[in-house]
Amino acid sequence: MAIMKSVLEAIGNTPLVDLERLVRHWKLEGRVLAKLDHLNPSGSKKDRIALGMIREAERKGLLKPGQTVIEETSGNTGNGLALVCSLLGYPFVAVMSKGNSIERVRICNAFGAKVVRVDQAPGSKPGEVSAADLDLVMEETERLTKELGAFCAGQFHNADNALAQETTGDEMWEQSEGKIDAVADFVGTGGGFTGIATSMRRHNPKVRCYLVEPANAPYYSGKKAREGAGHRIQGGGYAREVPFLDRSLITDCVGVSDEEAAEGARLLSSVEGIFCGFSAGAHAAAARKLLQGPEKGKTVAIVICDSGLKYLSTDLYA
Ligand SMILES: Cc1ncc(COP(=O)(O)O)c(C=O)c1O
Repeated sequence: MAIMKSVLEAIGNTPLVDLERLVRHWKLEGRVLAKLDHLNPSGSKKDRIALGMIREAERKGLLKPGQTVIEETSGNTGNGLALVCSLLGYPFVAVMSKGNSIERVRICNAFGAKVVRVDQAPGSKPGEVSAADLDLVMEETERLTKELGAFCAGQFHNADNALAQETTGDEMWEQSEGKIDAVADFVGTGGGFTGIATSMRRHNPKVRCYLVEPANAPYYSGKKAREGAGHRIQGGGYAREVPFLDRSLITDCVGVSDEEAAEGARLLSSVEGIFCGFSAGAHAAAARKLLQGPEKGKTVAIVICDSGLKYLSTDLYA
């Protein structure tokens, strides 16, 4: 590998690992391939979209030199933008819910960003960010965007989010030499699912694309979430329509409980040495269900969204 001009060049091109040990542990038939996106410089897959959204905004003339960038974030996009903005010379403000883990705040601070933490809605629990909590974060982001004359990256509405995550799918396809039958991806903004599914279908229209949702907070499966149902899979599962998720790409939905996601994360760490967060664990649990069901004997690809280091303040690894 040649010398890089900056850490920005270290974003993407992450390894793809065959989870043979986990497949054996669960006595499954088939293969699970994991894209180690937690190895991106700020510790999550969101570094791809941080760089992608900023570069595209520069190219489209939406972001002026030195202008403040702002983002509503569950933390990981904030961490990625904090890193990218610091290297490219944009002041950055992350707006996040107090329900998200404190590590994400500290990482933003480390990269020199400002963090605004928004109180959770009445009845919400720390570690469980609901759609109502997200609305409060969005309101505050809108207010601050106007006040600061900032550029809002807007991952929930910005199609450059999904575009940046097509690179994940393209890399998986190339690394596996086209040997992928299905993918499973947890929905937050839907950028990951849309980007990866778009890439897969471009390479082979027959690849099945499964949307992963919290069993407690289903939405796309057509089951209505119980009012106020919370879950612990940070980074998504808001049980609401996300603007650019293309439903025609969804083969089916897979529900994963908090316990299954936590077990998945703990096994990825202890059996495979992949130290990850809840959503990566949810992906492993979803792959297990698929290999026990409709994808028996096939190859399912998943993403390791973020690092377990971001959950040390929670009980995930306590
Ligand atoms: C840890 C984690 N997993 C999964 C997701 C969901 O990804 P996407 O927004 O691409 O749907 C996010 C998004 O914030 C995340 O932070």
